[in-house]
Amino acid sequence: MKVIIRNNSAEGSLWAAHYIAGKIREKAARTSEPFVLGLCTGSTPIETYAELIRMVKAGELSFKNVISFNMDEYVGLPESHPESYHSFMHRYLFDHIDEPAENIHILNGNAEDTEAECAAYEEAIVKAGGFDLFLGGVGEDGHIAFNEPFSSLESRTRVVTLTQDTREVNARFFDGDFNQVPKQALTVGVATVLSSKEVVILAFGSKKARALKDAIEGPMSHYCTLSGLQGHPAGTIVCDENSVGELKVNSYRYFKAVEEAESK
Ligand code: GLP
Repeated sequence: MKVIIRNNSAEGSLWAAHYIAGKIREKAARTSEPFVLGLCTGSTPIETYAELIRMVKAGELSFKNVISFNMDEYVGLPESHPESYHSFMHRYLFDHIDEPAENIHILNGNAEDTEAECAAYEEAIVKAGGFDLFLGGVGEDGHIAFNEPFSSLESRTRVVTLTQDTREVNARFFDGDFNQVPKQALTVGVATVLSSKEVVILAFGSKKARALKDAIEGPMSHYCTLSGLQGHPAGTIVCDENSVGELKVNSYRYFKAVEEAESK
């Protein structure tokens, strides 16, 4: 696992956007096959999306040959609801870039048969060629996508029940009203994320410090589903000084030294 530590979220977000853009360009220069990208929601990726949009508008990057799959969606929330992940993604990314509409995939939280929806999603990912890169965030309790604590690290796309903690944290998007936050979601599994050739996780701010400590220094465990990244050959966490506040000094120094050595 690599841990890229930047001074603040603005610098970390720029790093991530340029890294992703570099990967998309690199594949486009090599092959005509599409770049398959996993995407996330939450407040964390917004600055990264803003920089990707800037690059597209400046003609520095194109999403024409990108196929994307989002991580998750609430169950039972109309797509048109401002806090649905459909609305979020269009507002902060898709409405501003050149990714063809047919290349955009987001789980349908209003599907009649949610199990069939999840199975079809896994099939569509395989049909697209599998993920080249999955961009994710992390919840305060270490959850990746909506894989709450004690989700199997072998899990695949499925219906999940959200924890009280997650609903309380997400209430800020629903007028601060916990009761308005849906109780269930559809989410890709931990194993779905880890099936990607590469995984990049964003984590900024002191609220993520415990999650990063557990994910980086703790055992690989269903207690903190992001810790599954420890078993991935190409996992990177992009974070800021505040979010690594709970790491051991030695771990912090190690990641800083690796980055410095590799930049020379
Ligand atoms: C939700 C999403 C996760 C996201 C997390 C953190 O639970 N399902 O994918 O990583 O929120 O959100 P934020 O970036 O707002 O802290």
